[in-house]
Amino acid sequence: MSRVFSGVQPTGNIHLGNYLGALKQFVELQEENECLYCIVDEHAITVPQDPKELKKHILDVAALYMAVGVDPKKSIVFVQSQVSGHAELGWVLNCCANTGELFRMTQFKAKSAGKESVGAGLLTYPVLMAADILLYDTDIVPVGNDQKQHIELTRDLAIRVNNKYGKTFVVPDGRFLKAGARVMALDDPTSKMSKSAVNEHSRISLLDEPSKIKKSIMKSTTDSEGVIRFDIENKPGVSNLLSIYSALTGKTIEALEKDYEGHGYGDLKKDLVEVVVESLAPIQEKYKEIRESKELIDALNDGANRAEAIAQKTMKRVRDTFGLGL
Ligand code: TYM
Repeated sequence: MSRVFSGVQPTGNIHLGNYLGALKQFVELQEENECLYCIVDEHAITVPQDPKELKKHILDVAALYMAVGVDPKKSIVFVQSQVSGHAELGWVLNCCANTGELFRMTQFKAKSAGKESVGAGLLTYPVLMAADILLYDTDIVPVGNDQKQHIELTRDLAIRVNNKYGKTFVVPDGRFLKAGARVMALDDPTSKMSKSAVNEHSRISLLDEPSKIKKSIMKSTTDSEGVIRFDIENKPGVSNLLSIYSALTGKTIEALEKDYEGHGYGDLKKDLVEVVVESLAPIQEKYKEIRESKELIDALNDGANRAEAIAQKTMKRVRDTFGLGL
Protein backbone atom coordinates (compact mmCIF):
# COMPACT_ATOMS: atom_id res chain seq x y z
CA MET A 1 0.00 0.00 0.00
CA SER A 2 1.39 3.40 -0.95
CA ARG A 3 0.88 6.68 0.86
CA VAL A 4 -0.78 9.34 -1.32
CA PHE A 5 -0.95 13.07 -0.59
CA SER A 6 -2.44 15.94 -2.55
CA GLY A 7 -4.05 19.32 -1.96
CA VAL A 8 -6.20 21.99 -3.52
CA GLN A 9 -6.22 25.68 -2.64
CA PRO A 10 -9.52 26.99 -1.26
CA THR A 11 -9.54 29.96 -3.56
CA GLY A 12 -12.97 29.42 -5.06
CA ASN A 13 -14.27 28.18 -8.38
CA ILE A 14 -12.94 24.63 -8.47
CA HIS A 15 -13.03 23.94 -12.19
CA LEU A 16 -12.92 21.14 -14.71
CA GLY A 17 -9.10 21.38 -14.82
CA ASN A 18 -8.84 20.74 -11.08
CA TYR A 19 -11.32 17.89 -11.40
CA LEU A 20 -9.79 16.14 -14.40
CA GLY A 21 -6.16 16.83 -13.44
CA ALA A 22 -6.38 16.05 -9.74
CA LEU A 23 -9.70 15.22 -8.03
CA LYS A 24 -10.56 12.34 -10.36
CA GLN A 25 -7.26 10.73 -9.43
CA PHE A 26 -7.99 11.23 -5.71
CA VAL A 27 -11.06 9.04 -6.02
CA GLU A 28 -9.33 6.30 -8.04
CA LEU A 29 -6.36 6.12 -5.69
CA GLN A 30 -8.30 5.87 -2.43
CA GLU A 31 -9.42 2.31 -3.18
CA GLU A 32 -5.96 0.77 -2.81
CA ASN A 33 -3.80 3.29 -1.01
CA GLU A 34 -3.57 5.25 2.20
CA CYS A 35 -4.61 8.70 1.03
CA LEU A 36 -4.44 12.16 2.59
CA TYR A 37 -6.32 14.93 0.82
CA CYS A 38 -5.76 18.38 2.15
CA ILE A 39 -7.40 21.78 1.73
CA VAL A 40 -4.30 23.96 1.64
CA ASP A 41 -5.49 27.17 3.26
CA GLU A 42 -1.97 28.29 4.22
CA HIS A 43 -1.08 28.29 0.54
CA ALA A 44 -4.11 30.43 -0.22
CA ILE A 45 -2.85 33.32 1.94
CA THR A 46 0.29 33.75 -0.17
CA VAL A 47 -1.95 36.27 -1.94
CA PRO A 48 -4.41 38.47 -0.02
CA GLN A 49 -7.71 36.78 0.90
CA ASP A 50 -10.90 38.00 2.53
CA PRO A 51 -10.90 36.01 5.82
CA LYS A 52 -14.66 35.36 5.78
CA GLU A 53 -14.55 34.20 2.16
CA LEU A 54 -11.54 31.99 2.85
CA LYS A 55 -13.31 30.19 5.70
CA LYS A 56 -16.30 29.63 3.42
CA HIS A 57 -14.15 28.38 0.56
CA ILE A 58 -12.40 25.87 2.84
CA LEU A 59 -15.75 24.17 3.45
CA ASP A 60 -16.74 24.54 -0.22
CA VAL A 61 -13.63 22.64 -1.34
CA ALA A 62 -14.03 20.01 1.37
CA ALA A 63 -17.63 19.43 0.28
CA LEU A 64 -16.54 19.23 -3.36
CA TYR A 65 -13.87 16.64 -2.51
CA MET A 66 -16.62 14.51 -1.02
CA ALA A 67 -19.15 15.28 -3.75
CA VAL A 68 -16.79 13.94 -6.44
CA GLY A 69 -16.34 10.76 -4.43
CA VAL A 70 -13.55 11.23 -1.91
CA ASP A 71 -14.76 9.19 1.05
CA PRO A 72 -13.59 10.51 4.44
CA LYS A 73 -13.86 6.99 5.83
CA LYS A 74 -11.37 5.70 3.28
CA SER A 75 -9.19 8.82 2.96
CA ILE A 76 -7.94 11.38 5.47
CA VAL A 77 -9.54 14.68 4.46
CA PHE A 78 -8.36 17.71 6.42
CA VAL A 79 -7.46 21.39 6.49
CA GLN A 80 -3.75 22.24 6.33
CA SER A 81 -3.73 24.90 9.07
CA GLN A 82 -5.20 22.40 11.55
CA VAL A 83 -1.91 20.49 11.52
CA SER A 84 0.96 22.70 12.67
CA GLY A 85 3.63 20.40 11.24
CA HIS A 86 3.11 21.89 7.75
CA ALA A 87 4.29 25.34 8.84
CA GLU A 88 7.04 23.92 11.04
CA LEU A 89 8.48 21.63 8.37
CA GLY A 90 8.05 24.46 5.86
CA TRP A 91 10.44 26.54 7.93
CA VAL A 92 13.00 23.75 8.21
CA LEU A 93 12.88 23.18 4.44
CA ASN A 94 13.17 26.93 3.78
CA CYS A 95 16.55 26.63 5.44
CA CYS A 96 17.51 23.89 2.95
CA ALA A 97 16.23 25.59 -0.24
CA ASN A 98 18.20 28.11 -2.25
CA THR A 99 16.63 31.41 -3.26
CA GLY A 100 17.92 30.86 -6.83
CA GLU A 101 15.85 27.70 -7.34
CA LEU A 102 12.76 29.42 -5.94
CA PHE A 103 13.14 32.47 -8.21
CA ARG A 104 13.34 30.04 -11.16
CA MET A 105 9.88 28.52 -10.50
CA THR A 106 7.61 29.33 -13.45
CA GLN A 107 4.55 29.86 -11.23
CA PHE A 108 6.45 32.41 -9.14
CA LYS A 109 7.60 34.16 -12.30
CA ALA A 110 4.04 34.25 -13.66
CA LYS A 111 2.45 35.44 -10.43
CA SER A 112 5.07 38.11 -9.73
CA ALA A 113 5.40 39.37 -13.32
CA GLY A 114 4.93 43.12 -13.62
CA LYS A 115 4.51 43.61 -9.85
CA GLU A 116 6.81 46.00 -8.02
CA SER A 117 6.75 43.93 -4.87
CA VAL A 118 5.24 40.56 -3.90
CA GLY A 119 4.93 38.76 -0.56
CA ALA A 120 7.80 36.48 0.45
CA GLY A 121 5.22 33.70 0.83
CA LEU A 122 4.72 33.67 -2.92
CA LEU A 123 8.41 32.89 -3.36
CA THR A 124 8.52 30.19 -0.67
CA TYR A 125 5.14 28.69 -1.65
CA PRO A 126 6.74 25.59 -3.27
CA VAL A 127 8.73 24.92 -0.10
CA LEU A 128 5.51 24.78 1.92
CA MET A 129 4.16 22.42 -0.73
CA ALA A 130 7.26 20.24 -0.29
CA ALA A 131 6.60 20.26 3.46
CA ASP A 132 2.99 19.14 2.90
CA ILE A 133 4.21 16.16 0.92
CA LEU A 134 7.27 15.17 2.95
CA LEU A 135 5.43 15.50 6.29
CA TYR A 136 3.50 12.32 5.52
CA ASP A 137 6.25 10.15 4.00
CA THR A 138 4.31 10.38 0.76
CA ASP A 139 5.02 7.98 -2.11
CA ILE A 140 2.62 9.37 -4.73
CA VAL A 141 1.35 12.90 -5.44
CA PRO A 142 -1.60 13.04 -7.89
CA VAL A 143 -1.61 16.47 -9.54
CA GLY A 144 -2.04 18.28 -12.84
CA ASN A 145 0.93 19.02 -15.10
CA ASP A 146 1.28 22.58 -13.81
CA GLN A 147 2.66 21.19 -10.52
CA LYS A 148 5.50 19.20 -12.15
CA GLN A 149 8.19 21.72 -11.29
CA HIS A 150 7.02 21.88 -7.67
CA ILE A 151 7.17 18.10 -7.38
CA GLU A 152 10.71 18.18 -8.80
CA LEU A 153 11.71 20.71 -6.14
CA THR A 154 10.15 18.51 -3.45
CA ARG A 155 12.21 15.57 -4.66
CA ASP A 156 15.38 17.69 -4.81
CA LEU A 157 14.87 18.91 -1.23
CA ALA A 158 14.21 15.39 0.06
CA ILE A 159 17.29 14.00 -1.68
CA ARG A 160 19.42 16.95 -0.50
CA VAL A 161 18.46 16.38 3.15
CA ASN A 162 18.85 12.61 2.87
CA ASN A 163 22.33 13.00 1.35
CA LYS A 164 23.48 15.44 3.99
CA TYR A 165 21.93 13.98 7.17
CA GLY A 166 21.06 10.37 6.30
CA LYS A 167 17.68 9.02 5.25
CA THR A 168 15.06 11.37 6.66
CA PHE A 169 12.44 11.73 3.93
CA VAL A 170 10.66 9.46 1.47
CA VAL A 171 11.31 10.75 -2.08
CA PRO A 172 7.87 11.07 -3.70
CA ASP A 173 6.73 10.69 -7.31
CA GLY A 174 4.19 12.86 -9.10
CA ARG A 175 1.24 11.12 -10.78
CA PHE A 176 -0.18 12.75 -13.88
CA LEU A 177 -3.09 11.52 -15.98
CA LYS A 178 -2.84 11.14 -19.73
CA ALA A 179 -6.14 12.88 -20.43
CA GLY A 180 -6.90 15.82 -18.18
CA ALA A 181 -3.43 16.65 -16.88
CA ARG A 182 -3.60 20.04 -18.55
CA VAL A 183 -7.06 21.37 -19.32
CA MET A 184 -6.77 24.60 -21.26
CA ALA A 185 -8.81 27.80 -21.05
CA LEU A 186 -11.86 27.74 -23.33
CA ASP A 187 -11.34 31.28 -24.58
CA ASP A 188 -7.57 30.91 -25.02
CA PRO A 189 -6.50 27.27 -25.46
CA THR A 190 -2.83 28.21 -25.28
CA SER A 191 -3.08 28.94 -21.54
CA LYS A 192 -4.31 26.60 -18.81
CA MET A 193 -7.80 26.78 -17.36
CA SER A 194 -7.42 28.70 -14.11
CA LYS A 195 -9.46 29.85 -11.13
CA SER A 196 -8.19 33.39 -11.39
CA ALA A 197 -8.75 34.23 -15.09
CA VAL A 198 -10.96 37.33 -15.44
CA ASN A 199 -13.22 35.84 -18.13
CA GLU A 200 -15.60 33.42 -16.38
CA HIS A 201 -16.28 31.75 -19.75
CA SER A 202 -12.64 30.67 -19.87
CA ARG A 203 -13.46 27.89 -17.39
CA ILE A 204 -16.22 25.53 -16.35
CA SER A 205 -16.62 25.47 -12.60
CA LEU A 206 -17.93 22.28 -11.06
CA LEU A 207 -20.95 24.16 -9.71
CA ASP A 208 -21.83 26.00 -12.93
CA GLU A 209 -25.46 25.98 -14.10
CA PRO A 210 -26.20 24.18 -17.41
CA SER A 211 -26.90 27.51 -19.15
CA LYS A 212 -23.45 28.87 -18.19
CA ILE A 213 -21.77 25.60 -19.27
CA LYS A 214 -23.57 25.82 -22.62
CA LYS A 215 -22.53 29.41 -23.19
CA SER A 216 -18.87 28.79 -22.26
CA ILE A 217 -18.51 25.74 -24.51
CA MET A 218 -20.45 27.14 -27.47
CA LYS A 219 -18.33 30.34 -27.33
CA SER A 220 -15.04 28.44 -26.97
CA THR A 221 -12.20 29.31 -29.32
CA THR A 222 -11.48 26.81 -32.12
CA ASP A 223 -9.97 27.44 -35.59
CA SER A 224 -11.10 27.91 -39.16
CA GLU A 225 -10.13 24.50 -40.60
CA GLY A 226 -13.47 22.87 -39.80
CA VAL A 227 -12.01 19.38 -39.28
CA ILE A 228 -12.27 17.61 -35.91
CA ARG A 229 -8.87 16.12 -35.18
CA PHE A 230 -6.42 16.18 -32.29
CA ASP A 231 -3.40 18.39 -32.99
CA ILE A 232 -2.35 20.43 -29.98
CA GLU A 233 0.10 22.58 -31.88
CA ASN A 234 -2.08 23.63 -34.80
CA LYS A 235 -5.54 23.09 -33.30
CA PRO A 236 -5.27 23.74 -29.55
CA GLY A 237 -8.96 24.66 -29.13
CA VAL A 238 -10.42 21.55 -30.80
CA SER A 239 -7.78 19.37 -29.11
CA ASN A 240 -8.78 20.77 -25.73
CA LEU A 241 -12.47 20.02 -26.36
CA LEU A 242 -11.57 16.48 -27.43
CA SER A 243 -9.41 15.99 -24.32
CA ILE A 244 -12.19 17.13 -22.01
CA TYR A 245 -14.66 14.88 -23.83
CA SER A 246 -12.29 11.93 -23.60
CA ALA A 247 -11.44 12.50 -19.92
CA LEU A 248 -15.13 12.69 -18.94
CA THR A 249 -16.40 9.73 -20.97
CA GLY A 250 -13.37 7.42 -21.10
CA LYS A 251 -13.68 7.31 -24.92
CA THR A 252 -10.30 7.48 -26.64
CA ILE A 253 -9.38 10.52 -28.72
CA GLU A 254 -9.04 8.24 -31.78
CA ALA A 255 -12.61 6.95 -31.31
CA LEU A 256 -13.89 10.52 -30.98
CA GLU A 257 -12.07 11.60 -34.14
CA LYS A 258 -13.79 8.76 -35.97
CA ASP A 259 -17.23 9.57 -34.50
CA TYR A 260 -16.93 13.19 -35.64
CA GLU A 261 -15.58 12.57 -39.13
CA GLY A 262 -17.48 14.86 -41.49
CA HIS A 263 -19.07 16.83 -38.60
CA GLY A 264 -18.59 20.49 -37.80
CA TYR A 265 -17.38 22.09 -34.55
CA GLY A 266 -20.97 22.97 -33.62
CA ASP A 267 -21.87 19.26 -33.35
CA LEU A 268 -18.85 18.51 -31.16
CA LYS A 269 -19.60 21.48 -28.92
CA LYS A 270 -23.28 20.62 -28.54
CA ASP A 271 -22.47 17.03 -27.57
CA LEU A 272 -19.76 18.17 -25.18
CA VAL A 273 -22.25 20.47 -23.43
CA GLU A 274 -24.42 17.42 -22.80
CA VAL A 275 -21.48 15.33 -21.57
CA VAL A 276 -20.32 18.05 -19.16
CA VAL A 277 -23.81 18.84 -17.83
CA GLU A 278 -24.54 15.14 -17.28
CA SER A 279 -21.18 14.53 -15.61
CA LEU A 280 -21.55 17.48 -13.24
CA ALA A 281 -25.23 17.00 -12.30
CA PRO A 282 -24.69 14.21 -9.73
CA ILE A 283 -21.68 16.07 -8.27
CA GLN A 284 -23.75 19.22 -7.85
CA GLU A 285 -26.59 17.34 -6.20
CA LYS A 286 -24.29 15.61 -3.71
CA TYR A 287 -22.45 18.86 -3.05
CA LYS A 288 -25.61 20.64 -1.88
CA GLU A 289 -26.37 17.83 0.54
CA ILE A 290 -22.85 17.61 1.97
CA ARG A 291 -22.14 21.36 2.19
CA GLU A 292 -25.09 21.88 4.55
CA SER A 293 -24.45 18.81 6.71
CA LYS A 294 -22.94 18.87 10.20
CA GLU A 295 -20.96 15.74 9.29
CA LEU A 296 -18.70 17.84 7.06
CA ILE A 297 -17.02 19.62 10.00
CA ASP A 298 -16.89 16.39 12.01
CA ALA A 299 -15.18 14.61 9.11
CA LEU A 300 -12.60 17.42 8.79
CA ASN A 301 -11.85 17.45 12.52
CA ASP A 302 -11.45 13.69 12.49
CA GLY A 303 -9.20 13.97 9.43
CA ALA A 304 -7.03 16.57 11.15
CA ASN A 305 -6.57 14.29 14.18
CA ARG A 306 -5.53 11.38 11.99
CA ALA A 307 -3.15 13.55 9.95
CA GLU A 308 -1.67 15.05 13.12
CA ALA A 309 -0.75 11.60 14.43
CA ILE A 310 1.33 10.89 11.30
CA ALA A 311 2.80 14.41 11.20
CA GLN A 312 3.98 14.27 14.81
CA LYS A 313 6.06 11.18 14.13
CA THR A 314 7.74 12.81 11.14
CA MET A 315 8.40 16.05 13.02
CA LYS A 316 10.05 14.18 15.88
CA ARG A 317 12.35 12.52 13.35
CA VAL A 318 13.03 15.84 11.59
CA ARG A 319 13.84 17.68 14.84
CA ASP A 320 16.29 14.91 15.73
CA THR A 321 17.83 14.98 12.25
CA PHE A 322 18.48 18.73 12.41
CA GLY A 323 19.42 18.82 16.12
CA LEU A 324 16.48 20.99 17.09
CA GLY A 325 15.20 21.18 20.70
CA LEU A 326 16.46 19.32 23.73
P1 TYM B 1 -4.38 24.31 -7.27
O1 TYM B 1 -5.28 24.59 -6.12
O2 TYM B 1 -4.01 25.42 -8.17
O3 TYM B 1 -4.98 23.17 -8.17
C1 TYM B 1 -5.44 21.94 -7.62
C2 TYM B 1 -5.08 20.79 -8.53
O4 TYM B 1 -5.66 21.00 -9.82
C3 TYM B 1 -4.66 20.87 -10.83
N1 TYM B 1 -4.96 21.80 -11.93
C4 TYM B 1 -5.13 21.43 -13.20
N2 TYM B 1 -5.07 20.22 -13.80
C5 TYM B 1 -5.32 20.18 -15.13
N3 TYM B 1 -5.61 21.27 -15.88
C6 TYM B 1 -5.68 22.51 -15.32
N4 TYM B 1 -5.99 23.56 -16.05
C7 TYM B 1 -5.42 22.62 -13.91
N5 TYM B 1 -5.41 23.67 -13.05
C8 TYM B 1 -5.12 23.14 -11.84
C9 TYM B 1 -3.35 21.22 -10.14
O5 TYM B 1 -2.25 20.66 -10.81
C10 TYM B 1 -3.57 20.64 -8.77
O6 TYM B 1 -3.26 19.27 -8.77
N6 TYM B 1 0.19 24.00 -5.32
C11 TYM B 1 -1.05 23.29 -5.48
C12 TYM B 1 -1.70 22.90 -4.18
C13 TYM B 1 -0.84 22.15 -3.24
C14 TYM B 1 -0.48 20.78 -3.37
C15 TYM B 1 0.31 20.50 -2.22
C16 TYM B 1 -0.71 19.81 -4.32
C17 TYM B 1 -0.30 22.62 -2.09
N7 TYM B 1 0.41 21.63 -1.46
C18 TYM B 1 0.88 19.24 -2.02
C19 TYM B 1 -0.16 18.53 -4.12
C20 TYM B 1 0.62 18.28 -2.98
C21 TYM B 1 -2.02 24.19 -6.23
O7 TYM B 1 -1.90 25.39 -6.25
O8 TYM B 1 -3.07 23.56 -6.74
